[in-house]
Amino acid sequence: MRHLVIGIGELVHLDNGKEGLICGDDMLNEEHLISKGLAILIENNIISKIKPEEELIEEFLPSFNQKIEKSNKIIVNKINDTLVTQVGRNSIIPGLIDSHTHLLWDGDRSNEVSLRMKGMSYSEISKAGGGITYTVNETRKSTDETLAKLGKERLKEALRNGTTALEAKSGYGLTTESELKLTSIMNDLSIDETNPSIDITWMGAHDIPKEKEKADYIEELINKQIPEISSQGYARNCDVFCEPGWFTIEETERIIENASNSGLSIRLHIDEFKDGGGADLAAKKGVDTADHALYSNDDAREKMSKANVIQGFLPGAPYTMGLDKWPPIKQCIENNQPWTIATDFNPNCRILSIPSIASICVQKLGINPLATLCAATRNAGISVLHRTEKPHGIIKEGYVANMNILNGGKWEAWCLQQGSSPFKATILEGATVIHINN
Ligand code: NIG
Ligand code: FE
Repeated sequence: MRHLVIGIGELVHLDNGKEGLICGDDMLNEEHLISKGLAILIENNIISKIKPEEELIEEFLPSFNQKIEKSNKIIVNKINDTLVTQVGRNSIIPGLIDSHTHLLWDGDRSNEVSLRMKGMSYSEISKAGGGITYTVNETRKSTDETLAKLGKERLKEALRNGTTALEAKSGYGLTTESELKLTSIMNDLSIDETNPSIDITWMGAHDIPKEKEKADYIEELINKQIPEISSQGYARNCDVFCEPGWFTIEETERIIENASNSGLSIRLHIDEFKDGGGADLAAKKGVDTADHALYSNDDAREKMSKANVIQGFLPGAPYTMGLDKWPPIKQCIENNQPWTIATDFNPNCRILSIPSIASICVQKLGINPLATLCAATRNAGISVLHRTEKPHGIIKEGYVANMNILNGGKWEAWCLQQGSSPFKATILEGATVIHINN
């Protein structure tokens, strides 16, 4: 069906005519990344034309004599055989892409906040049986139905906050059978087109299960989990928790070499709690994205940038752990290095909203709101594959028709709100989903 989107305030399309990752000053260029007076034509869930509004109305809705609504309501109706969304002069930004989530798990670790306040670190809580170990036990005990229901609710919340696609990791099963189960539930969730699209990551190397010796578990990862995950065919990526106390540089290298030989793309968790050399490994292996990268040194950041490795910043992690250590985002912009932001949604960081993470970046760390938006859309879209296998992350002809309609005419509102969504509606693969009664 043909779908025309008209009455747009500012259109933050993020298309500066160049392809691929956007870095440095290009991320700040309002003149190149934002336009006014344009309308969008969507055909078969793909953006097929972006042109001055009068031209598109004349070409596709010649009978449209209704004055464009003066109120800021969103009105969706069918005129002849065209679906028309009148946006009410609210602004539009691309659909948000959450490039790092641990979507599926059961159990509640709220008590860990009290342990932290008694002075225990993440690693000490983990050694005492909390952390990932606790969630693994709860997730293994859960049923497929419960996990699918939890996944569906979380995806709904993410969509309500403007996420149209996300990356999601397994890693709370840590047996071949339970890891396969998690990737299979994620696959079912991604097939449902009312959910955001999911790019699935196998993360069997998230922790060492308590019932196994580390060396034996690594053999299982290599000889059993990787072959079975790749023959199941649902996970496109592999991720490893490469951090002192979890998987060493040598162990990580061995796991990702095997995963890569089995056709999986590589992402990593690195340098979350200390500089353990993870960034050097990420650069050497040219992984798609190296996430957290909180303690990585400047030399290794430069090496990653030269190897086209994205630094995937997750400020929700220090925020929820009460740490006053933040990723060096301003420095990355100055040094022209590629970066993204994501939620890192997990039992210890229960944030499903990219606008909330963006608010930390903009309102606490002083990062430019347009650069932050580029990171959470265009750059994230490079490492997260959309289920249609079409490009996504910017508003451009040929791209998936994913976008968010703000509650107001000023685009900066996208990152200034915690606790509620800044969006009135989301267009998910061409279908308008209204979030609030207007
Ligand atoms: O990215 N650090 C490893 N994984 C998650 C946390 C997982 C958990 O605590 O359950 C992260 O922060
Ligand atoms: Fe994570």
